[in-house]
Amino acid sequence: MTDQTVTSDSGSAKSAEQSSEFAASRLAGGDGRDAILEVENLRMYFPVKSSGVIRRTVGHVQAVDGVSFQVPAGGALGLVGESGCGKSTTGRLITRLYQPTGGKIMFEGKDIAGLSPKKLMPLRRDIQMIFQDPYTSLNPRHTVGAIVGAPLLIHNVVPKKKVLPRVQELLEVVGLNPEHYNRYPNEFSGGQRQRIGIARALTLQPKLLVADEPVSALDVSIQAQVVNLLQDLQREFDISFLFIAHDLAVVRHFCPEVAVMYLGKIVEIADRETLYNHPQHPYTQALLSAVPDVKQAAIGGRRERIRLEGDVPSPINPPSGCRFRTRCPLAQEICAKQEPPLLQIGERHKVACHFAGEIGQHPTKPVTARLLGIDDQGNPDPGATPDPNAVEQPGFADTWYDVQGGHLGAKA
Ligand SMILES: Nc1ncnc2c1ncn2[C@@H]1O[C@H](COP(=O)(O)OP(=O)(O)OP(=O)(O)O)[C@@H](O)[C@H]1O
Ligand code: SF4
Ligand SMILES: [Mg+2]
Repeated sequence: MTDQTVTSDSGSAKSAEQSSEFAASRLAGGDGRDAILEVENLRMYFPVKSSGVIRRTVGHVQAVDGVSFQVPAGGALGLVGESGCGKSTTGRLITRLYQPTGGKIMFEGKDIAGLSPKKLMPLRRDIQMIFQDPYTSLNPRHTVGAIVGAPLLIHNVVPKKKVLPRVQELLEVVGLNPEHYNRYPNEFSGGQRQRIGIARALTLQPKLLVADEPVSALDVSIQAQVVNLLQDLQREFDISFLFIAHDLAVVRHFCPEVAVMYLGKIVEIADRETLYNHPQHPYTQALLSAVPDVKQAAIGGRRERIRLEGDVPSPINPPSGCRFRTRCPLAQEICAKQEPPLLQIGERHKVACHFAGEIGQHPTKPVTARLLGIDDQGNPDPGATPDPNAVEQPGFADTWYDVQGGHLGAKA
């Protein structure tokens, strides 16, 4: 790994100035593409209160717990995972609808995680969100013109008399009739409502769009139209996307890079080809086994379905070590004792599993032991020297670890 490695923000002695210098150097380098957004060790713990008159905090929902990734400028990162794994919470943290419990949200090199509502105001223009449900995310008592035009008035972007022409222009951009600005949301179909939501998100010409399951509430026939619209808009306006979805086929179509989440953590992240053709994490493999494979079907074959046993555990009290271990067919002793780090194992591929490997080729010995300074059962090994470079970091470095054959070694 390179010397770009950082420790978590908590307890870091780095000054704000140093860390922003550091971020700027990372944003400009690394994989050669600039990142518009860099999320580092992001955490969101929702307090759980007791019932009764005095409501004490009795625990925390660890909805997002130490998530790191980058969104390339003008690119699209997909975020997938089962219901409740923390995708929407991640999106809401980035748009700062929530105040994170910890971590950094570097937008264009500046940490916005701790900004006050006043300081966030200008930023709201640059980062917008498209919501999952086009039925509840639009105020039924407001006309389409009022909904789409509201951000222009709030941010005082154009003179009042120019709001209507701008709204009509936006309606046209998203494929709606500009003369329908004075209609109400209930006069539109689901697909058309989502187009209104997209027009609203575009009003302030954002640089980054967080699209939270933008098509999952729509009919399959309409989904493709809306995804194509988003793709056209991305090209035309050079918008970067964090595209949240549970449908892996939609993400594959839209995103050159995909991150897989499980119970508040990223378990695998890779470029599209690698993730879909060579997944290394048992959870990703199970998710993908449920997706129809067009190529296999064309030659009369079928991908074998991997069924996951049991329910997703509670994020209030997640399993020790690897959070996936209660459902993982490969789990061993080490998995309960040690959390697997999200290791870079390829040019654009990271995975968090002690037994990372392709289906049928998972190693019998943990590939992480030497790196973590532990033995094969996960107990401390006094003879081993842990490698501090295993610490998670956003983005990809120029060197990575080779897990082929069950051994680790830096690859140039
Ligand atoms: N405001 C909140 N207060 C307490 N817990 C919350 C809150 N919002 C989300 N959670 C919990 O955090 C976890 C992650 O929720 P989140 O909505 O981010 O999941 P998701 O991956 O978007 O799921 P889905 O696919 O169903 O939309 C869940 O256990 C959820 O119950
Ligand atoms: S670390 Fe262990 S439990 Fe977790 S995914 Fe890998 S094999 Fe399964
Ligand atoms: Mg959600």
